[in-house]
Amino acid sequence: MNTKPSLDELFERRISYPDFDAQERLGRLVGLDDQKSRLSKILGLLVNDKGLKSWANKYHKGADHLVNTILRRPPLIVLAGDVGSGKTELAETIGDMVARQEDIDINLLPLSLSTRGQGRVGEMTQLISSTFDYAVAEAQKLKSNTGMSRGGIILLVDEADALAQSREAAQMHHEDRAGVNAFIRGIDRIANGQLPAAIIMCTNRVNALDPAIKRRAADILTFSRPNDIQRSSVLSTPLSQLGFTQEQISAFVRATGPIDGRDYGFTFSDLTQRLIPSIVLDAYPLKAVAATRALEITKAVKPTPPFKENKS
Ligand SMILES: Nc1ncnc2c1ncn2[C@@H]1O[C@H](COP(=O)(O)OP(=O)(O)OP(=O)(O)O)[C@@H](O)[C@H]1O
Ligand SMILES: [Mg+2]
Repeated sequence: MNTKPSLDELFERRISYPDFDAQERLGRLVGLDDQKSRLSKILGLLVNDKGLKSWANKYHKGADHLVNTILRRPPLIVLAGDVGSGKTELAETIGDMVARQEDIDINLLPLSLSTRGQGRVGEMTQLISSTFDYAVAEAQKLKSNTGMSRGGIILLVDEADALAQSREAAQMHHEDRAGVNAFIRGIDRIANGQLPAAIIMCTNRVNALDPAIKRRAADILTFSRPNDIQRSSVLSTPLSQLGFTQEQISAFVRATGPIDGRDYGFTFSDLTQRLIPSIVLDAYPLKAVAATRALEITKAVKPTPPFKENKS
């Protein structure tokens, strides 16, 4: 009954960085420069503390206490916010930036909770505990006592909404609570061992984040729907490749924003995964894409409603 899941059962798509594909995907993300920079710095320090030490040595000699305070930050970063806003995409690709920046190999261990751990009682807890057992063991192999680790681990806990529910929420199922506790224990194991490992957690429900998880987050990065400039960045390349003018493209930027009594616009994924394909497939295979028809299609597409946090 208590058989441990195997490595392949635990993690679906492990990635080792540097990786070209990840680099390309990361480069395609629009408007996330601040998140990219903060995330890569935090991850860089978690997997390799030598950088901060040499920075301090250069600019703030003797600031050992300061350096230690920063290096002892908990190894968790939360990516929170609206659907289709680049959380998973960033989490799956940022390792490439860190690997290049620190010049070490980084391994991503991705665990999605959405399709997992919903079976037998205890399964979620077991899944989380096994995940951390494995991540800790891997990170221990990479740790070095001379500062520069031989590599780093990023544990990605995606679709972590079940874990984001506050332990205080009365309606929270006992099993979920046990899962949250296992998660917190796991974070502490990595922190206490000072291992070259970081945990990225993605959730739509930042307001429901468990206080004990929130307290352990080195940073909570928020993601939202694209504004006019960001929608323009996403749409300009594909629409100009279709031969649309700048003025026509502006009409698409407006039509995908909060208009007509709707107080929200398209998500990033509404633009890339729904709108552009609909426009192209409407014309394919018999004719070219026409701007007027494409704009009609755009006006008929309903953007994904914002994720409603249930205020519990
Ligand atoms: N900032 C962005 N720039 C360009 N494209 C984006 C951006 N964010 C998301 N996309 C597009 O939307 C797709 C979905 O993004 P992603 O899976 O990262 O969303 P998410 O924030 O994890 O959403 P969910 O909360 O629903 O899991 C990406 O594959 C990409 O095509
Ligand atoms: Mg996601």
